[in-house]
Amino acid sequence: MAYRHRSSIDALPGYRQGKAAPVTPGLTPYKISSNENPYPPLAAVREAVSDRALVHLNRYPDMRGTVLVERLARLHQVAPENIQLGCGSTEVITQLVNLVAGEGDEVMYPWRSFEAYPIIVTGAGATCVPVPLNDRGGHDIEAMIASLTDRTRLVIVNNPNNPTGTSVSQEEALHLLEAVPDDVLVLFDEAYFQFNDDPAQAKGLELMRNHPNVVVARTFSKAYGLAGLRIGYAVAPAEVVQGLSKVALPFGVSDMAQEAAMVSLDVSDQLRDRVEGIMKERAKVVAALEGQGWWIPRSRANYFWLPLGGATDQAYESFLANGLAVRAFPNEGIRITIGEAEANDRVIRVCADLKEQGLI
Ligand SMILES: Cc1ncc(COP(=O)(O)O)c(C=O)c1O
Repeated sequence: MAYRHRSSIDALPGYRQGKAAPVTPGLTPYKISSNENPYPPLAAVREAVSDRALVHLNRYPDMRGTVLVERLARLHQVAPENIQLGCGSTEVITQLVNLVAGEGDEVMYPWRSFEAYPIIVTGAGATCVPVPLNDRGGHDIEAMIASLTDRTRLVIVNNPNNPTGTSVSQEEALHLLEAVPDDVLVLFDEAYFQFNDDPAQAKGLELMRNHPNVVVARTFSKAYGLAGLRIGYAVAPAEVVQGLSKVALPFGVSDMAQEAAMVSLDVSDQLRDRVEGIMKERAKVVAALEGQGWWIPRSRANYFWLPLGGATDQAYESFLANGLAVRAFPNEGIRITIGEAEANDRVIRVCADLKEQGLI
């Protein structure tokens, strides 16, 4: 049926969810395609959801998330007025783009990066300004600076970058911030912050204290393992938070998500152990692959990038045949999440086979 709509949406590739684990006879299937946490929810989180949140499903949640907002404010040493919740950090980023950019305005981001960016920017009616990554899979800060115009309304820094895993340094961030006008916001999307062990990494929250145009987005989906509950937040100047709350999806963050996030902060020691476990597995996989002769951009996240170019499709089929759902970007490469130890060992074996076949 022909219907009147915005033609800009026609050219937009929709969000592709990471594939489910393939069913392969005789093999335990693994889904390592969405940068999720392989650990099941902690008992304390399950209890909080079932004991406290499920009992009042007939009521709308607290739209402001008052208790959690206060808790996050204490954690980050800011005022509650500096915290805005969202239905995943995807919604927080959507709020921000809707707040600052519309028809004729530009939103800049590195590319390839989080695939929701172009969807969010196009959805707002604004213009996407993707700036290609450098040849090490990192942000090209000089090219980003050169792409600033008087129509730029938001600059997104994805640290570490999804899908390449590369970290942006504090020095690079400062250089960028110096070039961006004071009234143009810069978002540090730190979805994988807890996995970033780069000693030189840019610290969004620290930068925010000296640069009033900095906004930081964090999520409970990755290190905290709450992807299914949809909860993230922004730390931002109070004026920005006021604007975000006006464009937020009303009641977007459920009570279950708020309760689970609160408890997760209480048991952050247990979660930190899990994060460290994932980082150890990452080091194991990357060392094995480098030993096989692969070049991999330095990953500071819970995934890594195999730059396969034209061999991507063929390599993807090999992973699938081995019961592994990974994330392929045709003609570019494959992003692989660090998952269960057995999944990671199988990734190492598939990569060795790919090398032996002379695929790359
Ligand atoms: C870079 C980046 N930012 C933000 C998100 C959003 O996560 P969520 O909406 O689950 O908080 C993701 C999820 O994959 C991501 O990779």
